Amino acid sequence: MPEPYWSDDTVTLYVGDMREVLPALDVAADLVLADPPYGETSLKWDRWPDGWVKVAAEVSRSLWCFGSMRMFLLHRDEFEAAGWKLSQDIVWEKHNGSGFQKDRFKRVHETATHWYRGQWRDLHTSVPRVPSTRPRGGDVLTGRQAAHMGAIGTRSYVDDGMRLMRTVIPVRSMHHNASHPTEKPIGILTPLLEYACPPAGLVVDPFAGSGSTLEAARLSGRRAIGIEADEKYAEKAARRLSQAPLIGVAAPTRDEEETRGNA
Ligand SMILES: C[S@@+](CC[C@H](N)C(=O)[O-])C[C@H]1O[C@@H](n2cnc3c(N)ncnc32)[C@H](O)[C@@H]1O
Repeated sequence: MPEPYWSDDTVTLYVGDMREVLPALDVAADLVLADPPYGETSLKWDRWPDGWVKVAAEVSRSLWCFGSMRMFLLHRDEFEAAGWKLSQDIVWEKHNGSGFQKDRFKRVHETATHWYRGQWRDLHTSVPRVPSTRPRGGDVLTGRQAAHMGAIGTRSYVDDGMRLMRTVIPVRSMHHNASHPTEKPIGILTPLLEYACPPAGLVVDPFAGSGSTLEAARLSGRRAIGIEADEKYAEKAARRLSQAPLIGVAAPTRDEEETRGNA
């Protein structure tokens, strides 16, 4: 059994290659939330770890995976071979971008795809609801249901002013506040977590980096296991998690307030 590098009541962090650590933990997780190396930069760690998709399939039936269109197309067969079925994709729209090339559009988004194994009905799926940005039409609305959605006619419902979160999610990127070169903001992780992992459920982040998913899980009342190959980042994650309750409860930073407000 691997020794935790850091742990508290809700979060455990391991250092090592997830392909060795995760099978040895023998866990069943509600969700794997992965931000793998895309294999698209010259960063030392940015190499696609062959086999990780199959390892993830052995611990969960639900997977959110960050990536680029290029990455998913290149590795699509690995997902299918491991039994993962694609359910949907969301777009994280950043307020800025990085690595601009003069002969390409300015890239200001990343994709996250959701995959599942087994029966859809057995999964936890809870789409976050957010306040409508449009004027309310009244307390009781009658809406036509579209034929292409399998129903014809009308139905009435009480408008609570809330709407299903949309697939394009604008959240400020970490920009100069990042402690990892590809750090994800809490604001983009939280809706994915809340969608696919029930309250008090267990999420595994096999590429934990600076610990963003682990902190997001804790803040939203989920348990988390993180694995990170590079001890330098694991140390940053551990430091962050040691301080996180103070930041999360007492005094959110300006950047955190902005990212949460945008989520
Ligand atoms: C895209 S980054 C994750 C960043 C993270 N989401 C954050 O917000 O800080 C991918 C991370 O995976 C780590 N990594 C690469 N190969 C790994 C492996 N085989 N097992 C575990 N971690 C690995 C890298 O060191 C890197 O920190």
